[in-house]
Amino acid sequence: MNAMLTPVNSSIGKKALVGVTGMLLVLFVLGHLTGNLLVFAGRNAINEYAHFLHEMGHGVLIWVVRLGLLGVFVAHLALAILLRFENRRARPVRYAHEDTVQATWASRNMLLTGLVMLFFVLYHLAHFTLGWTSPVTFKGAFPLHGPDQLPDVYRMVVLGFQNPVVAGLYLVAQLFLCLHLWHGAGSWTQTLGLNRGKLRGFTSLIGPVVALVVLVGNSLIVLACLLGIVSV
Ligand code: HEM
Repeated sequence: MNAMLTPVNSSIGKKALVGVTGMLLVLFVLGHLTGNLLVFAGRNAINEYAHFLHEMGHGVLIWVVRLGLLGVFVAHLALAILLRFENRRARPVRYAHEDTVQATWASRNMLLTGLVMLFFVLYHLAHFTLGWTSPVTFKGAFPLHGPDQLPDVYRMVVLGFQNPVVAGLYLVAQLFLCLHLWHGAGSWTQTLGLNRGKLRGFTSLIGPVVALVVLVGNSLIVLACLLGIVSV
């Protein structure tokens, strides 16, 4: 048992686990974006995709994935907060002149942008998964759609983002996600010692590229619905 907890007990182990869980979350965000972009392929495409996810393994696999994702998310956040406390304890008095020439705003504010993401995900679940924040536009409120009688996820997303306040909240959240990924999506390469020598040029681009792809992709979905380019 003790051996299993060793990585959590050391700072380096915690850092590595934050990196691994972060990498899994990046894969989820990219996969989720790819699926959501199906909104541009039309109602049937995104509804069939959502139906496929819900029916995976007779509806059991979706719960395995959901619980796994929740575990990874909680571990990522808890370890990041623990690391921050440990660093503060090790250096209670801040340097008079912080040596942060190399550090970007994004890298210095990972905890802040991460906590904003926590609130965004809670709101997002209440919005699209549970239908608490706008029950009238929730897919559960619609009659089933098409010959296959699928829940209308397309309609829920389009109607959701037609509300400028909701669209605005999502767009602001995407900016924070972009800042978080700018540093976070590539920092695992540092933990694994891959950002040295010839590889450095390539690995230092991973974070910014992933961050911009996610920002542009997610924002396009929101803006297309808000501006009526994609409509019900
Ligand atoms: C504009 C961007 C986004 C759109 C259009 C979108 C859309 C959706 C929709 C429609 C669902 C419910 C699926 C269903 O019940 O069939 C969902 C669930 C979810 N989304 Fe997003 N999403 C977006 C961004 C994000 C981001 C940035 C994150 C994470 C940082 C995220 C995390 C989740 C999670 C964790 C779920 C719950 C998955 C589940 O119910 O199994 N989403 N999203």
